[in-house]
Amino acid sequence: QTEFGRVKALLERMGETLEDGEVPMQILNDDAVHQLELERIFGQTWVYVGHESEVPEPGDYRQRTIGEDPFIFVRGEDGDFRVLFNSCRHRGANVCRAEKGNTSHFRCPYHGWTYKNTGDLVGVPQKAAGFDHLDAEERGLHEAPHVEEYNGLVFACVAPEVEPLEEFLGGATWFLDMYFDLIDMEVIGDPHRWEVENDWKTPTENFYGDNYHIPMGHKSAIDAGVGSDTATGEKESNLYGIADCDGHGFSFYQIESEEDSYWGHPPEVVETFNHDALDDDQHEVARKSGVTLGTIFPNLSFIFLGGRDDPEKDSVGTFLLRKWEPRGAGKMEVVNWILAPKDASDEYKERVYEVGMSNFSPSGNFEVDDVGIWYGIDEAAGSVFARQNDDVNTLFTMGRGENPAATVYDEWVGPGTAYLEGGMTDENQLDFYRTWHEAMTSDGGM
Ligand code: FES
Ligand code: FE
Repeated sequence: QTEFGRVKALLERMGETLEDGEVPMQILNDDAVHQLELERIFGQTWVYVGHESEVPEPGDYRQRTIGEDPFIFVRGEDGDFRVLFNSCRHRGANVCRAEKGNTSHFRCPYHGWTYKNTGDLVGVPQKAAGFDHLDAEERGLHEAPHVEEYNGLVFACVAPEVEPLEEFLGGATWFLDMYFDLIDMEVIGDPHRWEVENDWKTPTENFYGDNYHIPMGHKSAIDAGVGSDTATGEKESNLYGIADCDGHGFSFYQIESEEDSYWGHPPEVVETFNHDALDDDQHEVARKSGVTLGTIFPNLSFIFLGGRDDPEKDSVGTFLLRKWEPRGAGKMEVVNWILAPKDASDEYKERVYEVGMSNFSPSGNFEVDDVGIWYGIDEAAGSVFARQNDDVNTLFTMGRGENPAATVYDEWVGPGTAYLEGGMTDENQLDFYRTWHEAMTSDGGM
């Protein structure tokens, strides 16, 4: 059987098992699946590249990847964002080799072709002698054909055709408005990056809202008194899981008391928010919000922690954006940004950074819990045994059956379907695999 035939059969089987809430485990660590998802997912859909506050000045740039492809996220001297393909039009070398910086030009290290920060080719050494015939206008750096920004979040798509970003985000805009319209946020410091032997889909699926793992997987951190007041139960709250949200997934705690919560931000910080930016329903959800997390398909997750790194200290509202970058089958690179309200004091921003780092970073209290467990999933997924047995599947059936604990909350004011009672549903996480499967079979089954 060819690799092509094997993956086709695997995706067909997944089409059937998905209905029953089961996902073939081998999709988590398989070279052929990985290659196909680079093309069909990362090569076709909107992918997050960075926050506008990372490139505030003309000429500011950051190296970023879309799937595994090298790009430069740059603000040109005209003030516009571009996502330039980091490959020289001469022989293909990377023209940008620094992680970040500010520059008016990128000069290729191989033969010296030079491009403006808008991508235009402006210099070719010994042009008159050797490249007299060259039309520089036709040899600017390639760029992602679609770059759009939503509330400061910049996305790009490398496919020739794609729907407008806002249409792609769909119901997710309701949540993104709640965070980024209400609060002007900026990235604090540089993103932290690290590599993990995990398929990017394992954490992505978790961040669609695996609330079930918190009491078990994070018991030690919770017992230590770190993390959030709502997840520890210190503050009474309801947990919601949101499914049917145009391929994206969310979950969040809502406190029960009348006090303000705003993800753990203290009153002096809450005062700086743009309260008029939200409608009354949205504002009420924001006001009662404790820990909040979610994922924009395919690989941008976030967590609004509202917590602490020390039981003796006050909670702060830490917002983390994280991108799970594919790096080969069963491997990923995590890029982790910490954001804070722009108008808060420097001291507060520093606390936000500390709390973010202590809980979610390579050595973070919560991160190590998850990663230590996730390793094993992808190891098993890549096994011969998983390939040879059609019933080695992961299971997403929680909350189904005659008397499910999870109930649909009819008075939910936002997009999608809200599940109550601890968010004990897998429907939000299944949405990820449904969306993934649809994208993977998008040409009608290959
Ligand atoms: Fe860039 Fe030759 S590869 S100048
Ligand atoms: Fe976790």
